[in-house]
Amino acid sequence: MTGRFITFEGLDGSGKSTQLERVARRLERHGVAHVVTREPGGTPFADLLRELFLRREAAQVDGLVELMLVFASRRQHLIEVIEPALAAGAVVLCDRFTDSTYAYQGGGRGVQPELIAEADRLATGGRMPDRTLFFDLPPEEAQRRRRGRAADRIDRESLTFYRRVHAAYRERIAGEPDRFRLIDAAAPIETVAKAVEDALGDLFPQVQRDQVRRA
Ligand code: TMP
Repeated sequence: MTGRFITFEGLDGSGKSTQLERVARRLERHGVAHVVTREPGGTPFADLLRELFLRREAAQVDGLVELMLVFASRRQHLIEVIEPALAAGAVVLCDRFTDSTYAYQGGGRGVQPELIAEADRLATGGRMPDRTLFFDLPPEEAQRRRRGRAADRIDRESLTFYRRVHAAYRERIAGEPDRFRLIDAAAPIETVAKAVEDALGDLFPQVQRDQVRRA
């Protein structure tokens, strides 16, 4: 049996990581084998790359350099964590994956999508998630939510940058409507949690059944 690869995407401040943790707790309660991980990072070496990538001191980093760093991290992560977990039949809940690269390096930094696709083929063989939840929040609102929390190198980018990131995400969703589920991240947290449950319900029939029994 092979597992399910589920990714969580959105602007910084969209609340996706909180929701990922909730899904993980729900799977835990229902005894569904799962792995919680994130990008960049997810292995000791990839976590070092993440640290480098997010350091504020490195203010000016070329878009192609960023591209190579995130794919270096991704390949290691895929080999060491994601593929083995899927092969063992586990659900992999991953905070960000290649859609982030199209959004941030593509939309944000202006790296051509063809180059990203080429790097993706090289690093992952074009590995895509089975399902991707996109936590949709207007860039202005995401920026407001980020205020007051420690900002890394990317968080400090301008609103214009984040508008480009958001537009690139929307373009990807339009291109692959079957893989994506759009979640209104501006809604109250419990409404968002319900939307997440609905967006994953068909993948976890055992979890759904339990809920019906309880109700
Ligand atoms: P996080 O704050 O959601 O953990 O993500 C780390 C930052 O890295 C976030 O600002 C998005 C950025 N990022 C990229 O620019 N490209 C990528 O491919 C990935 C995975 C993340």
